Amino acid sequence: MKIGILGTGNVGRALAKPWAEKGHEIVFGSRDPNKALEIAESMGKNVCSSTYEEAAQWAEVVVLAVPYTAALDVLRDAGDLTGKILVDCTNPIAPGLSGLLIGLTTSAAEEIAKMTSAKVVKAFNTMGVGVMANVQFGSETASNFICGDDEAKSVVRSLGEDIGFDVIDIGPLSNARLLEPLAMLWIYLAFKHGMGTDIAFKLLRR
Ligand SMILES: NC(=O)c1ccc[n+]([C@@H]2O[C@H](COP(=O)([O-])OP(=O)(O)OC[C@H]3O[C@@H](n4cnc5c(N)ncnc54)[C@H](OP(=O)(O)O)[C@@H]3O)[C@@H](O)[C@H]2O)c1
Repeated sequence: MKIGILGTGNVGRALAKPWAEKGHEIVFGSRDPNKALEIAESMGKNVCSSTYEEAAQWAEVVVLAVPYTAALDVLRDAGDLTGKILVDCTNPIAPGLSGLLIGLTTSAAEEIAKMTSAKVVKAFNTMGVGVMANVQFGSETASNFICGDDEAKSVVRSLGEDIGFDVIDIGPLSNARLLEPLAMLWIYLAFKHGMGTDIAFKLLRR
């Protein structure tokens, strides 16, 4: 697929690598296309770089990998995303990792959906980038919870499975109100409870 990744930070780079290796075409969108070019070149085949607008307009799937507080500006730069899938990886984290900026009656995903005409799917927000790079914990595979309001979820499921995740569809986009606090739990355990970043959530079934 043609995947435009908006943001060349930790998440953007962590997702680009395995997708490029799987044969997807990646264009990073960045505020600084020169910096993005260096990052793209370091990743080799199937990865290049541009502005937010060019990456988003070229892509079939647009991945929002920027701070939640920057989402509005970045989406404005990206232009009209009608007909495209927007994967929202953001978490509305308060300064100092002290909690969530919003929740209960809305979520970052729902607020982002109000900013764009794209089909928004929440995914890749409940684990750290080290988990995106390696989803295996012995014989267990990390879960990647996704939610959204239409068939675009099947595309995002497949992109998650390409990285190796156990992808779990938890229903409508409003259930991002459950996923963003789950991300906060991961952050708490990793950074404030001393467990480190080599942890992931796994849904057990029987
Ligand atoms: N880090 C994780 O383990 C993790 C895991 C799951 C979800 N998330 C969420 O995913 C999103 C991205 O996280 P990240 O760790 O990749 O963040 P990051 O390393 O700080 O990178 C964010 C990128 O967003 C772009 N950006 C655009 N406007 C910006 C602004 N005003 N200030 C700072 N950066 C701006 C920048 O790319 P350009 O300079 O190329 O424009 C920057 O490299 C966040 O919402 C985060 O909560 C993070």
